[in-house]
Parts: sequence; structure tokens; C-alpha cells
Amino acid sequence: MKTADERRAIKNAMPRIHLHSVHTRNCRLLPDRYHLLDAMPKAATVAEIGVAFGDYSQEILERCAPKKLFLVDAWASDRYSDGLSAIQNKFASQIERSIVEVRQGLSTEVLKKFAPNSIDWAYIDTNHSYQTTIEELRLCASCLVSDGRIAGHDFCTGNVVSAIPYGVVESVMQFCLEDSWEFEYLTLDPSAHFSFCIKPISEN
Ligand SMILES: C[S@@+](CC[C@H](N)C(=O)[O-])C[C@H]1O[C@@H](n2cnc3c(N)ncnc32)[C@H](O)[C@@H]1O
Repeated sequence: MKTADERRAIKNAMPRIHLHSVHTRNCRLLPDRYHLLDAMPKAATVAEIGVAFGDYSQEILERCAPKKLFLVDAWASDRYSDGLSAIQNKFASQIERSIVEVRQGLSTEVLKKFAPNSIDWAYIDTNHSYQTTIEELRLCASCLVSDGRIAGHDFCTGNVVSAIPYGVVESVMQFCLEDSWEFEYLTLDPSAHFSFCIKPISEN
């Protein structure tokens, strides 16, 4: 576990972004991240970045009936390494029918291999650090369709039980300011591990 000074240094190294009303004026609050899936486009090409054992992937399949669901994860740590075989068993039929496609590797490497305009929306849920998340946001944007969406988990300050500072809020806000994106949805999950969904600000 990091010391309090180390955690403070991590937080202090992140930018404190002030957004404008243009970034928030169309945002809707939803009760939780399952309602978020109900609001997301259906029959779409979707990428879940950070899959673990496929609990949320299952929800995406049931609630969104995607045309295609890419599951991206390194499955490298002790905690999550059994996830890959769990996914392969759980989604064997969808993998067989090419509805689910597994891409194992670091998110920032795998995302570089998606072609522009190849994904309708993505849900990011990996290590939640500022540096990884800002890179994932930029790489997701480069492979999305023009009116695509980027959603993600843990839009909160950190994990208070394990004392891990997150950089999701800071990176999403920086990305919105720099690339002119706005919030479409925020969720109010009882766990306080909220989800976000952002979209490009349209000219109209
Ligand atoms: C919190 S779990 C994902 C949970 C899943 N989205 C759900 O809601 O059921 C985080 C996952 O991200 C993966 N991960 C962490 N950092 C990563 C990275 N840089 N690239 C790819 N996968 C990563 C871990 O292997 C782990 O499976």
C-alpha cells in the first residue's frame, strides 16, 4: 500500500480541470451503470476495455445486443489471470458466432490496432490511473465513429478501502476540455463507483 505522502503526490500531479457549461448542459443522471447500458446504442460495435471475469460483458450482451463486442484485457495480474479462460467458457457460443472477439494485451497497445470508424462505443474499466486513462480515451476516440461514445467505470476519487488514488475524473475532464467532448450520462451507483459517458460536442 502506498503511503499517504505517495498518494498525495499522485493526486497533486494530476491536472485540476474546470469545465464549462458546454461540457455538462446535456448530461443526464442515471441510477446506476446498468441503466447506462439501457441508454446506450443497440446492435452496435462495442469494446469493453478491462473485462476481468466478464460480469459487465454479460450485461452488455443482454441489455445492448451488440452486433460485435470486443473484449480487451491483459489478464496479466494474479487477481485477474483466470479471467481469460472464464471468458472463453462463458461466451463460447458468442465467440463461435463471432459476436464476441477477445483481444488480449495492454489496452494502450490493443487499441492502437483498431481501425478508425470501427467502434460505436467503448466502456473503459482498467487500472484507473490518470496516465492510462487519458491514453485510453485518446486511443478510443481515434477508432470511434464520428458520433461515437466513450463510457467508463470508477468516475470517483479512488478506492477508499485499498487506499488507491484514481485519475479517472481528472483524465476524463481534461479530455473533454482539450477535445471538445461533453458529458451525456453520469450514474449514481450506490457503491459510489460511478460511471460516465461522454460524446463529441456537436456544432448544432
Ligand atoms: C475492474 S476489472 C474490470 C471489471 C469489468 N469491467 C466488470 O465490470 O465486470 C479491471 C480489469 O482491467 C484489466 N487491466 C488493468 N490494467 C490494464 C491495462 N493497462 N490493459 C489491459 N487490461 C488492464 C485487469 O486485468 C482487470 O481484468
